[in-house]
Formats: sequence, C-alpha cells, structure tokens
Amino acid sequence: MPEKYLMHGGDYNPEQWLAMPEILDTDIRRFKEAKINTASVGVFSWSKLEPKEGVYDFAWLEKIIDRLYENGIYVNLATPSGARPHWMADRYPEVLRVNEQRQRNLFGARHNHCLTSPVYREKVRQINTELARRLGGHPGVKLWHISNEYGGECHCPLCQEAFRKWLENKYKTIEALNDSWCTTFWSHTYDSFSQVESPSTLGERSVLALLLDWKRFSSDQTIDFMGQEIAALRAAGSDKPVTTNLMYRFNDIDYFKMAQKLDIASWDSYPEWHRGGQGEWEAAQETAFWHDVIYGLKQKPFLLMESCPGATNWQAVSKLKKPGMVEAASLQSIAHGADGAMYFQLRKSRGSAEKFHGAVIDHYDGNDTRTFQDVCRTGDMLFGIGEVAGSRKKAEAAVIYDWENRWAMENSEGPRNIGLHYQESVEKSHRALRRLGLNVDVVDQNGALDGYRFVAAPMQYLFREGFAQKIREFVAGGGTFVLTYWSGVVDENDRCFLGGRPYGLRDVFGLRAEEIDGLYDQEENRICKGPASCGGQEEETGILEGMQESYRCQYLCELVKPDTATPLMVYGEDFYAGMPALLVNAFGKGKAYYVCADAEQTFYDDLYRGIVRKAGIGVVWEDAALEGVEITVREDAENTYFFAQNFGRQGVRIRIPEGAVLFGPADGHLAPLGGVVVRMKKVEN
Ligand code: GLA
Ligand code: ZN
Repeated sequence: MPEKYLMHGGDYNPEQWLAMPEILDTDIRRFKEAKINTASVGVFSWSKLEPKEGVYDFAWLEKIIDRLYENGIYVNLATPSGARPHWMADRYPEVLRVNEQRQRNLFGARHNHCLTSPVYREKVRQINTELARRLGGHPGVKLWHISNEYGGECHCPLCQEAFRKWLENKYKTIEALNDSWCTTFWSHTYDSFSQVESPSTLGERSVLALLLDWKRFSSDQTIDFMGQEIAALRAAGSDKPVTTNLMYRFNDIDYFKMAQKLDIASWDSYPEWHRGGQGEWEAAQETAFWHDVIYGLKQKPFLLMESCPGATNWQAVSKLKKPGMVEAASLQSIAHGADGAMYFQLRKSRGSAEKFHGAVIDHYDGNDTRTFQDVCRTGDMLFGIGEVAGSRKKAEAAVIYDWENRWAMENSEGPRNIGLHYQESVEKSHRALRRLGLNVDVVDQNGALDGYRFVAAPMQYLFREGFAQKIREFVAGGGTFVLTYWSGVVDENDRCFLGGRPYGLRDVFGLRAEEIDGLYDQEENRICKGPASCGGQEEETGILEGMQESYRCQYLCELVKPDTATPLMVYGEDFYAGMPALLVNAFGKGKAYYVCADAEQTFYDDLYRGIVRKAGIGVVWEDAALEGVEITVREDAENTYFFAQNFGRQGVRIRIPEGAVLFGPADGHLAPLGGVVVRMKKVEN
C-alpha cells in the first residue's frame, strides 16, 4: 500500500457466510480486482462473538482479519452494540427500549436497547474489552468503528431516573428549573425532581423547555454511552483511532458534541440521486452540504463510511444507479474532504431485510456485473488520486447550522407549525456560496468564527450563551455577517428574550424585528427593489446592481423597524408592501446584513455573489455558477488540489487550472457525471 491512500471498501458481514468458507476466497479475489483496501467487519456480529452469555468466540473473526490482512486489506473493526443477541433480551428485559407511551418493545430490530441500562452498558463493556484485548493489536486493524448509526430514545424507568439526575445536575434546585422552564404557565409547576417525566403524548408536551432538555439529555446519553464504549477499548490497551458512522439529516444527536469524542468523523450517505426527474444536481447540492457538515465536525478529513454501489432497498423507489454515478458520488466525497469512499455493503446478504440492497458482490458472484465494474472504476480512480489523502479543505466562508437551535425551533409552536424549513434555509446559503466555487465550512453556534470573512446564519432562533457577543466581535472586527428572520428569539432555556430581537444585536444590525407573518404553503410575497432601495448608501449599489428587480419569498416574512440600518430591498405585497425585506448596517469595521424573509435560491445566489466579489472574499471560480458544476479545493503544504464535477444533465466545458491532471479529461470537458482532479504546486516564497 502506498504511504498515502484513500480507503475504498465497505461493510462486510462474513459472519453470515461461515458455513460457506469458500465465499471468503471469492470475496478476497474480488476485493483485489476492485482495489478494495478496507472492510468494516463485526458491525452486527454479537450473536456470533458471544453466542451464550460469557462464552466468547473470536477465532472466526481473527481468521478473517488475518486472511484480509495477508491480502493487503485493512479492517475497520466494529463494536457490536448496534444490535444485541436474543439471550440478552430474554434474560435482562431492561435492555429493551420503552417508547413514549411507556410500552416496552419486544426483541427485534436494531438500536432497540436502552442506553442507560447498567446491564446493557456492562455487557457492552465486557465485549468491547474482549474485542480490544484479542484483536485490537492486530496489524490489520486500522480503525475502531463504534457501534452503528446511534439514534433514538428510551422512556424506561431507568432513563426517567437518569433524566431527573441530569436535570438536577443542571438546575440544582427545583425552583431554578421551574423558573427556567416557565412552569407557572397552566399551573405545571414541579414540587420536586421526582415528578419530572419525559415528554409524552399521554402527559406533558406543553412545557417546551422540557422538550428541549429531553432532546439534550437523549443526545448526551447517547454520547455518554459511546464514550463508555471507547473507554473500554482504551482500558484494554488499544489506542487506535475511533469513529462512528453518522447519518444524513439526522436530528436526534448533536453531532458537533458527539464528534468531540471521535478521532475521525464518518457518515453514511444515501441520496436519492435520480429522484423524480430532478436530476442529480439537486441531490449533489444536498449531499455537498452534508459532506461539509461532517468535515466541520472535526475540521479535518472524514470518511464516507457507507454509500450504495447499486440501488438501496429501503427508499420509496429502489432506483438503479446510472452509469458513472458511483464514481461521481465517491469523488464528490473526496472533493469535500473525505479520505475514503466506502459502501454498504461488500457482499449482498442472502436473506432478511437487506437481501435486495445494492452491494459490490451480488448473489450471482461474478465480476462481470455492471455494479462491480462501476466499483472497479471507482477503485482505479481512488488509487490514482490517493495522494490527496490527508489534505485539508480551507474556507473563508461559513454557514451556521446548530442542533440545539433546530430542536428548540421545531418544537416552538410558533409562526408556522407545518414546517419552518430551517434545514433548507441553511442549505440555500450554503448553495449560494458553493455556486461561487468557494469552499464552505459548516459550524455550529459554539464554533470559532475568527478564521472567516463571511458568515451566514439563517434562522438562529435560539441564541446559545455568548453567541450574540461572538457575532458582535466578528462584525466589529471587519467580518461580513448575514443573519435572517426569526433569530435571537429565545435563550438556551427556550425563554423569550426581553427587550427586542435579535437579542443583543439590535445595534449591530441597526434594526428591531417586531412581528413575523406565517404564510400558508400556497401563499407568497416578493422582495423588490423598491423606492426605498439603496437609501443613499452609495457603496451598496454595486451589490444591488447584480440583483433582479424582485424575488419570490414564502413561509415566513418578518417585519422589522430599521434604526441605523439601510433598507436595500422591500416587500412587494400585502399590508407590509414597502417595508424593508433586506437591510445592511455598517458596524465597526464590518457589515451586518439582515434578510427578513425566506427568499428563493436565486436571491441568495445574487446577493452573496455581490457581497463576496465586492469584499474580495476567497477565490471565486466562475465556472461553479454553471448548472450542475461543483468546484472544491483541498490543500496540503506543497499542493493545492482542484476538483470539478458535473452533476448536470448536459456536458460542460470548464477552465481548469494549470497543473498535473490526476484524473479526468485534461481539456476540462466534463460529460454528465464527469469529474476532474488537478494538482497545482504551491508557489514557494
Ligand atoms: C445504514 C446502516 C447499514 C445498512 C444501510 C442500508 O446506513 O448503517 O447497516 O442498513 O443503512 O442502506
Ligand atoms: Zn431506558
């Protein structure tokens, strides 16, 4: 294996094939043909590793890891806690989850266990210890794959007790909890912590701060559980790096917090690439956002742990991957900072729920399937660009995406209870910046802003402690900040700030947000260049010149009263026609923009293009504005790596920078799903 290489491989479940040992020989042959260098093993192997309580069998796994290693294939070794064996649930019913209706589940499924249960924690500690002791030192084991896709919550008595302790630890006294949660409302005051119950449709769902703290608790409990899994491996003497595979659009766990316990972030990406005739561009942009979220968790290279080399079997429609899609999806992850592109899974299982899920090796076994050939081409591509491993993705622009904010806002019973579109609003800002070819970081409210010149923060409903101050300092110091409607509304306990919003920033943005209008799905308003446009602020005209006369907006329209801010655009309709819809305020050395409504994508595209060009932020790649084109840059001390891909349905010709073409056409002619990677030497000074 070369010194620098990208991981290529995927989930491998040889425990399903122990009765057919010849399968392993075929698999290894196929892996080599496809330049597969990594297999994630042990993911759901508990019943084979500990067939009876306390009776361990690691021999079969060790043999497989040996064989793989002899053949140049490394292993990501999983802890098996994603699913428990039958004997455990039978003997210790407390390990099974209880739902919000207080009913205990039967055995079945995965992640159907209580993460508080001392029994479950102890059983996991024991098996992780054995695993680390017996296999952790194996030279073929590269990385720990902790559990699999953690998620969900449990409402059992043990979890209720743990939740109460968590609250007591946070609030100290019940009076402080009552005060923070505003429980005088409807006489829901608690007399003691012992009265607190997790949110339930049978009981309390009106104290919204309870809902928020329950989200935090469930997330913390999962992170704590994962921490104990890692501690067991460390205590048994393994110091190999750890990851856990995260999920797309997943809301239950604060991934920024979880990632603090990981050495490497990784995630499972299953876009509906060819959905409903929309083409691949839509899915590519959404996936790009999630790649950037995952990169942002550690601000360093991550892994695409799973992706499907064929059709999935669990989406509404199991669409085949069109030719070139596997390579394009894999390359996109590398472009965004992954050091490996892997699949679920390497061999298709024979029975049970995933027998029709796409896999590198089909039931048929041969190497002449379309999918296998796609994977071989991807293996060649990854091998050819292996030197990019370890290089970083630097960005001067960032968008803020925050889990706690999302939890609070989505439970808020506020201006629209049929969808606030928070996720989409963040993605719009991300897309607008990406269409300039800028690398974009995604950070949460706790993230440092110092390194950036442009930060967009859509819908920051909840302000964490210190967030307002951070924005103030960022703008005062010369940064450009875009904040939108429905920001700075509540504190960390979901209590509305007093004294006007956006909290703590009225002078920074030079305005006060007063009311917010929820629009029905079929309604819309417009953001227009009205008579109030430019209000005399000469230097902003350049930005407005590149903007259309008007843009559509929907869902939420906020009405603000400017103080020192200059309105740049105004509403076009309804009783608030003529009131400001886009404003700018000069504050300190920087600029603070405020967007009042949920505008269509092109509004953000045009606005950000104007701002970024005027302020000379980052390197703008003009071709990124072409339909379907994604441009990203990675770099290390000596080189800059330029990645361009075409997710559009038409061929495009793009200008590629001078350098060594590592992959793709040297003339920059990108067919649909085509891509190019160019190495540019950094100039020595
Ligand atoms: C998830 C899981 C895998 C598998 C795939 C199927 O990502 O981690 O075990 O179930 O989905 O797409
Ligand atoms: Zn529980």
